[in-house]
Amino acid sequence: MTKKINNNRRQFLQNSAFGAAALTAFPGMLFAQSSPLRTKATPSFKADVEIEFVSRDVYVPVLKTGRETKVQKYYAKLLKGPKKTLVELKGNYLGPIINYVKGQKVRIYYKNMMSEPSIIHWHGLHVPQDSDGHPMYTLETGQSHIYEFEVMNNAGTSFYHSHSHNLTAEQVYKGLAGLITVTDDEEQKLDLPRGEYDLPFVIQDRTFDEQNQLKYLHGMHGRMNGFLGESILVNGLPNVEFSVKSRAYRFRAVNGSNSRIYKLGWDDGTPLTAIGTDAHLLPKPETRPYLMLAPGERIDLWLDFSGRPVGSELVMYSLPYAGAMPPKMEEQRLGKESSGGGMGMGGGMMGMMSPSVGQGDKFAIATFKVTEKVSDSPKLPKTLGRFERLTERDVDNKHKPIPIGISMKPMRPMLNGKSFSMNRVLDFEKVELGSIKKIKIFHDHGPMKMKEGEKMDKGMDMSGGGGMGMMGGGMGGGMMMSMAHPIHLHGQQFQILSREIEGMRQEEYKTVKDGFLDSGWKDTVLVMPGEEIVVAKPFQDYKGLFLYHCHNLEHEDLGMMRQFYIS
Ligand code: C2O
Ligand code: CU
Ligand code: CU
Repeated sequence: MTKKINNNRRQFLQNSAFGAAALTAFPGMLFAQSSPLRTKATPSFKADVEIEFVSRDVYVPVLKTGRETKVQKYYAKLLKGPKKTLVELKGNYLGPIINYVKGQKVRIYYKNMMSEPSIIHWHGLHVPQDSDGHPMYTLETGQSHIYEFEVMNNAGTSFYHSHSHNLTAEQVYKGLAGLITVTDDEEQKLDLPRGEYDLPFVIQDRTFDEQNQLKYLHGMHGRMNGFLGESILVNGLPNVEFSVKSRAYRFRAVNGSNSRIYKLGWDDGTPLTAIGTDAHLLPKPETRPYLMLAPGERIDLWLDFSGRPVGSELVMYSLPYAGAMPPKMEEQRLGKESSGGGMGMGGGMMGMMSPSVGQGDKFAIATFKVTEKVSDSPKLPKTLGRFERLTERDVDNKHKPIPIGISMKPMRPMLNGKSFSMNRVLDFEKVELGSIKKIKIFHDHGPMKMKEGEKMDKGMDMSGGGGMGMMGGGMGGGMMMSMAHPIHLHGQQFQILSREIEGMRQEEYKTVKDGFLDSGWKDTVLVMPGEEIVVAKPFQDYKGLFLYHCHNLEHEDLGMMRQFYIS
């Protein structure tokens, strides 16, 4: 164990420009107590909302015909609070929608009734460590944990999902996820679409076998590339068609997929307008030819069907793009497309994607049919309320950004040269409570070194059989495996100060670059190969351990996760 840590450390020091990094362990803090779980409600915490959550292994009808599908599902019951706090999605594996109001005090009793360990994380909510679903709180079958937190977030869209280390990807895949909305006074003052005009748009990809059962991937090769499903589900259902009136809607798009990145766009070329990203409204609406949506990200879409005649139909696509996968795989994928296979054939039909729908292939996501003409519609606001812009002046480490270096060593996607460790942090992962930090997210491709006697896993060899010797041509080591990673930071939302691309793969980059929304608050940011992204992140209100990780869930489970210690 010690040896492994030392090896990692040496590698990190070699590869990183950020100097010495000491390790701090918290053996006492976390594990001396018998259990960090909260089993009794805190009497002094007066909750406005109380919910009972249970996760179960169940069968639900997902596909329209044939057998029910075995899934893992969250069930919730409102014990206290406004009725509209929970909205059930019928016939579905997704958990209920939770609608919060800023300032509410929330208590959640969660009991894991599945046959395997699990814990819930509220992705996007700014909550204390013991209510954040850190994997150290993972519940065995039959165990419970009580979450207690105040809703500190402004209006926006978040979501919840399981977060037990090594099991996150498969459990989210099997169904353990749900949507969260938060509203506040500021938002209520805006004339935004509400009620039946404010709808969830959770996008996920799944693969079913002939018995309607979910197929997940196995093996290291697949996990390094991430899971890509063959069918697109929206709000937990295939072949989704929305009947809409000729007016404006708010669709809360959530990428709840494990690895698939969507390039959202209309079939008729109409641009897309966004009013929110991740857990917050944008400063003002943004209109783009298309929008990129990576796993973990949310975009609140303003879809305006005003003026569209009854009977008209629009299809939302994931448009073709390139550059998200390692170069060799991209070559293969695009080669296949030109020879007429795969998804290159104009998109195919929803729910009937070919068995190998690559990352970046085109396919349909959902259809919108205008079925009723109405004359009134909210008008797109010019601005969306209060917004504080962070700049370099707000951070206290302008010249010494905290690094998040992405690397893909054979079978080990890592951050800052290390894999996840439950009770350790590096020196620069320690952050003072109340500070705002500059963080630099970049691809850290040191020369890929093979230890003596170590060889590449066959599945991992993307150089076409030539092994390590094929990596010349100016592609330094890990560059060969360079791919897109959606990096997620727990806790408070951050802002993007800059996004730069260097060097290779510029042509591919052109197919995605107009789809990034970097002007608002974010908690997940897609980092394309060659990109370097600088963010400013506040670390306020709560002490403790807060994760940061790749939201490609296969990568996360492979250890592409670290944590900050706020003190
Ligand atoms: Cu949505 Cu730590 O994740
Ligand atoms: Cu999160
Ligand atoms: Cu990743």
